[in-house]
Amino acid sequence: MDRMDVTEEFAGIQLPGHLHTPESLQYAQEFEFREGDVVIVTYPKSGTTWMQEIVTLIYSKGDPTIATSVPNWMRAPWLEHTYFKDTIKNEEGPRIITTHLPSDILAPALQKSKAKVVYIVRNPKDVAVSFYYFHKMAKFFPDSGAFPEFVERFLEGKVYYGSWFDHVKGWYNQKKNLDVIYLTYESMHKDLRRSIKKLCAFLGCPMYSEEVDKIEQHCKFAVMSQNAMVNYTLIPTEILDHEKSKFMRKGVVGDWKNHFTDEQNEDFEKIYKEKMLDCDLQVVWNLD
Ligand code: A3P
Repeated sequence: MDRMDVTEEFAGIQLPGHLHTPESLQYAQEFEFREGDVVIVTYPKSGTTWMQEIVTLIYSKGDPTIATSVPNWMRAPWLEHTYFKDTIKNEEGPRIITTHLPSDILAPALQKSKAKVVYIVRNPKDVAVSFYYFHKMAKFFPDSGAFPEFVERFLEGKVYYGSWFDHVKGWYNQKKNLDVIYLTYESMHKDLRRSIKKLCAFLGCPMYSEEVDKIEQHCKFAVMSQNAMVNYTLIPTEILDHEKSKFMRKGVVGDWKNHFTDEQNEDFEKIYKEKMLDCDLQVVWNLD
């Protein structure tokens, strides 16, 4: 319940003080990654929890014991959060680390290491919708305001975690410098099994078909939304109010169509096209 109304300024972006302190951010900035680390990198609401679950299950070869008994923030902690230092394992073996920090802060340390980076990108229109509802439930976030204003702030990067465009472009521009795989939320949605197999290959974890079956089954939205270790129902209502919105809200592609007016959509696309002009990221979603 600490620092619910505090905002941390770091690297030109604002972050919720409930989860971040100057010390935790400094620790993140100085953290030494090592060979075997898997670093899940996302802009919020892009499929972070989903990927934490998939990677957990890849390392357990489909055995759901850890995924159903240890909260995601303990088994794949956020590098920049206050509890990271006390949570991260120092013993041998692969570590799953999560972060929303921008590339300019972390890329130098990652380049020096042999850590593997998994970057997930999601259609920003759906990110904006999901983020809007998250603002409603997260008591340590500022008021979202009405949806049209929220989208404007999102496009201007005037939300916690900064600009979606800067985040995506920054990390995508690291493609030659890092051992990185880029996946989209939408491709995971379209063919989860294929995404799991791609990840197994990237992580160097050969998998039997039956093991992939188990991972695929466990990582379905219907199953994950009932798993208390990932649906955030373990967090008290004073911090995350599930009456306002569920963390595992809809888990669909294209919910933006239920929220954007035609005019908003046109404005969004115009800005998207301008901002992404210098980025050749291939995505399976078009803006429709
Ligand atoms: P919605 O709010 O659109 O439902 P993050 O983990 O990065 O915060 O992202 C949360 C979003 O991912 C939420 O989107 C959530 O429902 C969705 N999500 C989580 N697990 C999922 C799954 N197994 N399948 C599809 N979507 C999932």
